[in-house]
Amino acid sequence: MNTPALPSSAHAPSERAAALRALLDYHAHRYHTLDAPEIPDAEYDRLFCELQAIEAAHPSLRTPDSITQRVGGQVLAGFAPVRHQVPMLSIGTETDTSANGARAFDARVRRALGLSDADPQLEYVTELKFDGLAISLRYENGVLVQAGTRGDGEVGEDVTNNIRTIGQIPLRLPADAPALLEVRGEVYLRRDAFEALNDRQRAKIAAGAKGEKTFVNPRNAAAGAVRQLDSSVTAQRPLSFFAYGVAQIAPAPALQTHFALLQQLKSWGFAVAEQTALARGADELVAFYQRIGAARWQLPFDIDGVVYKVNALALQQRLGFVTREPRWALAHKYPAQEQLSTVLAIDVQVGRTGKLTPVARLAPVFVGGVTVTNATLHNEDEARRKDVRVGDTVIVRRAGDVIPEVVAVLPEQRTPGAAAFRMPSQCPVCASAVLREAGEVEHRCSGGLYCPAQRKQAMLHYAQRRAVEVEGLGEKLVDQLVDAGLVNTLPDLYRLGLNALARLDRMADKSAQNIVAALEKSKQTTLPRFLFGLGIRHVGEASAKDLARHFGRLDRIMNASVEQLLQVKDIGPVLAHSIRSFFDQPHNREVVEQLRACGVHWDEQEPTSAPERPLLGKTFVLTGSLPSLSRQQAKDMLEAAGAKVAASVSKKTDYVLAGEAAGGKLEQAHALGVAVLDEAGLRALLAQTG
Ligand code: IVH
Repeated sequence: MNTPALPSSAHAPSERAAALRALLDYHAHRYHTLDAPEIPDAEYDRLFCELQAIEAAHPSLRTPDSITQRVGGQVLAGFAPVRHQVPMLSIGTETDTSANGARAFDARVRRALGLSDADPQLEYVTELKFDGLAISLRYENGVLVQAGTRGDGEVGEDVTNNIRTIGQIPLRLPADAPALLEVRGEVYLRRDAFEALNDRQRAKIAAGAKGEKTFVNPRNAAAGAVRQLDSSVTAQRPLSFFAYGVAQIAPAPALQTHFALLQQLKSWGFAVAEQTALARGADELVAFYQRIGAARWQLPFDIDGVVYKVNALALQQRLGFVTREPRWALAHKYPAQEQLSTVLAIDVQVGRTGKLTPVARLAPVFVGGVTVTNATLHNEDEARRKDVRVGDTVIVRRAGDVIPEVVAVLPEQRTPGAAAFRMPSQCPVCASAVLREAGEVEHRCSGGLYCPAQRKQAMLHYAQRRAVEVEGLGEKLVDQLVDAGLVNTLPDLYRLGLNALARLDRMADKSAQNIVAALEKSKQTTLPRFLFGLGIRHVGEASAKDLARHFGRLDRIMNASVEQLLQVKDIGPVLAHSIRSFFDQPHNREVVEQLRACGVHWDEQEPTSAPERPLLGKTFVLTGSLPSLSRQQAKDMLEAAGAKVAASVSKKTDYVLAGEAAGGKLEQAHALGVAVLDEAGLRALLAQTG
């Protein structure tokens, strides 16, 4: 079935409503029944709200079969139907992401209860809005007898066998549980489980497996797993479950509030999210919304909002329902993490090691709290698997601070004749041949340092803070320097004079002086920083430190055989070969020699053996500012002595190195009885043990 067409809004409301209904029915079917949504939720919500608004303005257009009068999908052939004795309803959704959403809800509830401003504030339960799949669990005499999906709210699908595979769902309740209990909640997939699942799927696809696909997001993966006809497939997906309500309970317990009910569920063995809390009045609803919004990406699972529920069950009963939505609850959404955009172009970028990366240039779209204009397509295989083409309408996802990605294309909206993406056979920057080594997914420009793109990246890598650090030498300046032909190799940087710099476009005298000073300052460095800064493939900061510690001097590293390199802790064959072949290239040795000739220097040491690493095996945590050492210097010193520097204090921490304005970490150290040192103490410790 093709996506139904949506006439422009200039048409009569009746036509527009009919077209919206057809379109919403189509997408609801794809979402609920096929687990293959074509558009992001935010887009669906927009269409849904538009239809709701038309129907509110023209009640005669509200047909009984309108999707606004239903709650969900359809029963998939293959599962037995389950008739819900208590319908599974949805809750009203507030998409205004400001505090107003919560305040308006509180005001509506108060009005419905006939409360005035003089009356006390209402109590609510604030919950997370889990982004999974609603499930109803029926227990008779303490035994799970049936698990049903929501379906259309009245009739769902019997997925009992699949649900039984979920470890977090009790199959049997404790003896004090009631004879009949129907629990409502959400089945979901944790984000790490989702990533692992997609990794596995990608591996299967790469191995040529047919009919396998990756999942757009954790919710689709969870829904797909619950609605598997083969429950052994479900069992391989580590699903989780949170309970958030009760549909039936008999004999009824003497509980007065929703919160007490949730506590009771917990005591019967159901998982209830620990963030579930009580809130009094609109201010506390707003505070919860904001607090959870800020912590949203630290949660191990996806949520798309929070839910407010009136706590007192008697008040819930008085409030009742309007058009099949409870008046006592509200889902307050966060800004969507998926949106539609169009692909304006697919560019190919060349990285430091010559790696070619296709990047989709997108029409600007606000998603996950930022405006996104680019999304990496990783490599050719990935771009072709997703089949992203110029002009395509795509779903863009940005979850937390994860880099934005194109998760899927809407093939129905493709411009006829759009060509599939192909990696160019020549480097887009230097026209050298592009190569793909057997067994690798990456394409590489073969131009090496002949390629200006690689040269630029090599300089930025060298100049970054974690490497040799040349303050102020950023992307713009490097572009200018390379494009103007002033700098071709790393040593050229040190040969730049003030005059050459000051002649560059938009370069003030002062900035030129600063760059010269920064270059001068960078000459005094350390061996690990220098090694890392050379940009040897696979040599990261940690391996650079290991190498420096082991060999002590650069010439020993440059001349080490693969066998000798393999002696270094944590250096494996890939790294050892990469280091050897880097220094086998005469031009790389030349670069090193010239850099030293330009004055780049560091303290060379004798190779360290065990007794010279007095703090081996000790874990330190740094906090506050030290009188004479910078944080980096203290870290370098500790690591050179063999210690590990960790980010947070735990029972495993040996010492906390604390300076001025030390905060919570110091308190934690005291609480856990961890030894605390100041800078003088550290020096004394090193002197004593060294
Ligand atoms: S309460 C009558 N609480 O959001 C009230 N629903 O439209 C029934 N959801 O698909 C729902 N987290 O599965 C409730 N803490 C929560 C929820 C929640 C997620 C889902 C629910 C349904 C939709 C509500």
